[in-house]
Amino acid sequence: MVITMTTGLTFTYLTRDDVPAVAGMLAKESVCEWMFFGPNTPETTEGYFLPLVEGIEVALTEGRNPECPVFTIREKETGAFVGQCALLPVEFSPGAYLIGYQIDEPFWGKGYGTEACEFLVHAGFNLLGGYRLNGDCAEGNVASVRVMEKCGFVEEGRQRKYWHARGGYHDRLLFGLLREDLTKGRLAALGERFGEPQRDDQRT
Ligand SMILES: CC(C)(COP(=O)(O)OP(=O)(O)OC[C@H]1O[C@@H](n2cnc3c(N)ncnc32)[C@H](O)[C@@H]1OP(=O)(O)O)[C@@H](O)C(=O)NCCC(=O)NCCS
Repeated sequence: MVITMTTGLTFTYLTRDDVPAVAGMLAKESVCEWMFFGPNTPETTEGYFLPLVEGIEVALTEGRNPECPVFTIREKETGAFVGQCALLPVEFSPGAYLIGYQIDEPFWGKGYGTEACEFLVHAGFNLLGGYRLNGDCAEGNVASVRVMEKCGFVEEGRQRKYWHARGGYHDRLLFGLLREDLTKGRLAALGERFGEPQRDDQRT
């Protein structure tokens, strides 16, 4: 199910076949260093992602947007698995989503994290019609802070000792992006860059 293609990456809805690659990524200490979960066993990763895959499958069969869209990121040229990104709806607040992204270590520093976050801005506002995106990260995750800043997210606060993980306490930095923070021109440019969603049956 190809969603869109950009200059360097493709974003597709997560499928069952993609889950082992996600599990391989989330088993790495390096990838999970600044995350509150992981490193995970393949069973734990499958247990989390397979219900999301099922939700995506049902929604697409019914011709509607998935409630929790998760996207597999690949290099356009090589088809190599690069990572995943997702929009998780905020409970009781239709139109608000929490963003999430993980890029596998061999692909860090190539601009892919920024591109994934820009794709989520496009998906959240242009495709899902959202009004607000939440971002968060552990203090110290300087790359993730930079990714959000580059995409226009505003730092909104800090929750002290929010995560107790891997033997330590970690403050949670809070970020937000409102639809009205983006000019119509930027939304249109993102729409042009990432395109409309495509389904298997629409592929040429
Ligand atoms: C955080 C993450 C998504 C960044 O992805 P990436 O593809 O390496 O980021 P980009 O190449 O788009 O770089 C974005 C910015 O961060 C900076 N950056 C990247 N890695 C950095 C590092 N280790 N230290 C400091 N700055 C860094 C880049 O220089 C760039 O800023 P600039 O344009 O001002 O120079 C990636 O490292 C990752 O997935 N990490 C593991 C999972 C994770 O932490 N996810 C986020 C949870 S909140």
